[in-house]
Amino acid sequence: MAKFEAKKFRSFDVELNGISKKTMEEHYKLYQGYVAKSNEILDRLASGGVDLSKANPTYSEVRELKIELSRALGGVKNHELYFEHLGGKGGKPAGKVLGLLEKAYGSFDAWKADLTATAMSARGWAWTAYDFDAGQVFNFIGDEQNTYPIWNCALLVALDCFEHAYFIDYGTAKAQYVAKFFDNLDWTVIGKRADMFLPS
Ligand SMILES: [Fe+2]
Repeated sequence: MAKFEAKKFRSFDVELNGISKKTMEEHYKLYQGYVAKSNEILDRLASGGVDLSKANPTYSEVRELKIELSRALGGVKNHELYFEHLGGKGGKPAGKVLGLLEKAYGSFDAWKADLTATAMSARGWAWTAYDFDAGQVFNFIGDEQNTYPIWNCALLVALDCFEHAYFIDYGTAKAQYVAKFFDNLDWTVIGKRADMFLPS
């Protein structure tokens, strides 16, 4: 069975703009928790001890394990995407990524305004992802680690807007954190993501 391990990220080695070391360190502990629980759930599913014949959509062990696996593994992947693209200087992207944002929203500023509003409407996540079927990006909302992902999309930007991402630094002033998030984006990382699924 695949074992997940907590990764290291450059964003922990640099000084972020308006996101404290304390916030990042506490946030990393949550990420480590998602990694540990993913492995624990996968071990249980692989153990042979789960009675598959008792599968039931109201309550069964397999149902509970599958649901919590989606939350745990979602928590791993969401946070890896988030930590990976922090540590930059913000500003505007260039080339392919800028073209994708402009094609979908008309301008970089309009994309940013929409993702900001998506985050302010979200209980957990706001994402920019490229939809292979539509051939364009969309800003999607997520209330939990495992709610509202859309199939056949590839992720570009992951904005964590759970309270744990900003409460130490900003209290309830969520909008201040969301604004600072953009100032820490590393567009080079996001450009490499785009190159992976849209090679030119
Ligand atoms: Fe988080």
